[in-house]
Amino acid sequence: MSLIERIKGKLNKTQLSPNWPGLIEAYKPWLPVSEQTPVITLKEGATPLIRIKSVEAMIGKNVEVFAKYDGLNPTGSFKDRGMTMAISKAKEEGSEAVICASTGNTSASAAAYARKAGMRAFVVIPDGYVAQGKLAQALVYGAEVLAIKGNFDQALDIVREMAVNYPVNLVNSVNPYRIQGQKTSAFEIIDCLGEAPDWLCIPMGNAGNITAYWLGFKEYFEAKKSKKLPKMMGFQASGSAPLVLNTIVKNPETIATAIRIGNPVNREKAIDAKNSSQGDFLDVSDNEIIEAYKLLGKEEGIFCEPASAASVAGLLKRKNEIIDGSKIVCVLTGNGLKDPDCAIKNNDAIFRSNLEPDINTIAKVMGF
Ligand code: F0G
Repeated sequence: MSLIERIKGKLNKTQLSPNWPGLIEAYKPWLPVSEQTPVITLKEGATPLIRIKSVEAMIGKNVEVFAKYDGLNPTGSFKDRGMTMAISKAKEEGSEAVICASTGNTSASAAAYARKAGMRAFVVIPDGYVAQGKLAQALVYGAEVLAIKGNFDQALDIVREMAVNYPVNLVNSVNPYRIQGQKTSAFEIIDCLGEAPDWLCIPMGNAGNITAYWLGFKEYFEAKKSKKLPKMMGFQASGSAPLVLNTIVKNPETIATAIRIGNPVNREKAIDAKNSSQGDFLDVSDNEIIEAYKLLGKEEGIFCEPASAASVAGLLKRKNEIIDGSKIVCVLTGNGLKDPDCAIKNNDAIFRSNLEPDINTIAKVMGF
């Protein structure tokens, strides 16, 4: 047996990235696609589950905690899972243009997939509240960027109406194909762990992703691919917590701009996921988010964006309720490189500048 064959024998399909066909091909029987669907893929999915032992140590019980690092998708966020489906179906339907409202990641992903499919990509964003990396992506991928003097919720109202009145296909998470694509992350978790986790910790904005995970866990459970369902633990930033407060937040504010949303469109579905799974919602402050963000960076080598760190911040806040022997997955939805401003402002690193370019100076500064 060759080395390659031996390695292949030991690895499951999600680890064989060179052969990974993208999530539509990998999970075709579970998705509403046919032989006629033109699959638009950037080989999204198959993201790693990484054990995060520093978080386990802080919980102080016998638990296993994993990060589902979806920031390693092609455009750096989980949105690619939904976008490969939404754009493939839009292409199948003959659409020539797509539109979305976005706090940044949806716009980057929509632009990449739509342009690859030869469509126009219109993205409506809250001016001044989209992280630099995300804006850079939308521009380089060839989106037509429309920045409004308003917030995400207002942008979403506009694009929903646009899609009714003009020939543009809406690719926000009200589009059911988005949810279908995103549910595959739950499949991957079970395929990797061999069972569903006890808790699934996830940040919530428009609440499409918690809806998608719950759907994925239920479908695998019903197909007997898992014996249990996880408790769905959804987390929001305190200044932007309409689901936790059970209200509409008119002027949401948080450092985690990705989840700066006051009126989530998937509210009812998220509440159903929480209630049906005996899960819960909780808010975390911007400080707690940044503490988790820094911990993941400096203890685990995982650079996620602030919104993603809300899942770990939330888990740590609820650590007293965790039962010994639990397996927990925290979803890290986006890559830290998306928001360099936040990183440069919020870290505990030593940065010495203006140094003379000689070895003595460097050695001295290093403490030798
Ligand atoms: N994490 C990140 C990094 C996000 O970009 C988003 C949403 C969420 C979490 C929340 O997911 O909306 O499904 O509950 N970003 C959207 C956007 C709103 O426009 O990129 P959700």
